[in-house]
Amino acid sequence: MAIESSAARSKRPRRELKDPSPLLSPERSAQESAPGREDSLRPRRLNDYIGQAELKQVLGIAVQAASARGDALDHVLLYGPPGLGKTTMALVLAEELGVPCRITSAPALERPRDIVGLLVNLQPRELLFIDEIHRLTRVAEELLYPAMEDRRLDLTVGKGSTARTRTLDLPPFTLVGATTKAGSLSSPLRDRFGLLQRLEFYGQEDLEAIVERAAGLLGLSLSAHGCTEIARRCRGTPRIANRLLRRVRDVASVRAVSVNGGSTPPDGSVLIDADLVDEALSLHRVDGRGLDASDRRLLELLLQSHGGGPVGLDTLAAALGEDATTLETVVEPYLLQLGFLQRTPRGRVVTVAGRRHLGWPAVGEPTVKDPAVEDPAA
Ligand code: ADE
Repeated sequence: MAIESSAARSKRPRRELKDPSPLLSPERSAQESAPGREDSLRPRRLNDYIGQAELKQVLGIAVQAASARGDALDHVLLYGPPGLGKTTMALVLAEELGVPCRITSAPALERPRDIVGLLVNLQPRELLFIDEIHRLTRVAEELLYPAMEDRRLDLTVGKGSTARTRTLDLPPFTLVGATTKAGSLSSPLRDRFGLLQRLEFYGQEDLEAIVERAAGLLGLSLSAHGCTEIARRCRGTPRIANRLLRRVRDVASVRAVSVNGGSTPPDGSVLIDADLVDEALSLHRVDGRGLDASDRRLLELLLQSHGGGPVGLDTLAAALGEDATTLETVVEPYLLQLGFLQRTPRGRVVTVAGRRHLGWPAVGEPTVKDPAVEDPAA
């Protein structure tokens, strides 16, 4: 069972960067952060967890070995882009170990007493999940070092010349840390994790399996082509896939009501096919490869005003009225991953695949945009 401290919820930081399309943001939305919201679609056991084959294999062996020894699992650091299932994996590990999972995030552990309170209440072999672990304060980190290494909590009692150190023994426990910025973790903290595992973007096949499973759990009738379409547009990220599926379900529900003369039939009474997915996601301006209006605006600007590039980041940011960091960290990564954009020493360049996607001819061909390529942003 997951226990989430209310402090963890209330102190979750606001998103720092402007988010072009909330539907396609890999970060958890406020609604998804509410307890229980994402839970219904989460896999509970390793066998139900789709994709991340190497991660599952490594952790599966570590869980079996720790269970056989009756010991706590070694501390685990999960890193990688948001939305790929780090929290889910922590919950799966707890389930596999048959222990509770306490969930918190580094910004909720600002004061020393926050982390002390968590540590002294740990039960033997319990799993403590700390999200955004790269944001821990120095003091919190220093309390964690002996706790992780020697199961010991060193507390300073009193102040000034009367200050004394008291040591508390802790039960064996597992710290699972999650971060999108492994490089920002201090090396003493990183070195205390026995298992360091990166989560990768999911491939099309795994995403289809995830969407199919989620549709089944939501009681939806989703055709194979409908499933393929959602998987193709979710930017390699299960959290986005599930969010797109929910938006498609909205359109299917409205359709079912109108077919049913105004009364509400159960979900699943309308077959969700590729056309319905396309209609629903076009409504949200998500195109066939999961690009949103900001992605297309960037590519179009490069093509229309700069012959496809190269153009420097700051010039692009000024022309788009965006902040350069937002462009670099929020808009560009998926375009780079798809191979629609390249970063070169002289600036950003649209690739042939990027040109084609927007209906532009390859370099050297007549420079007329193909009108047959529909623009969901239009
Ligand atoms: N839902 C979200 N991520 C998942 C995963 N990796 N496997 C199964 N269902 C999921």
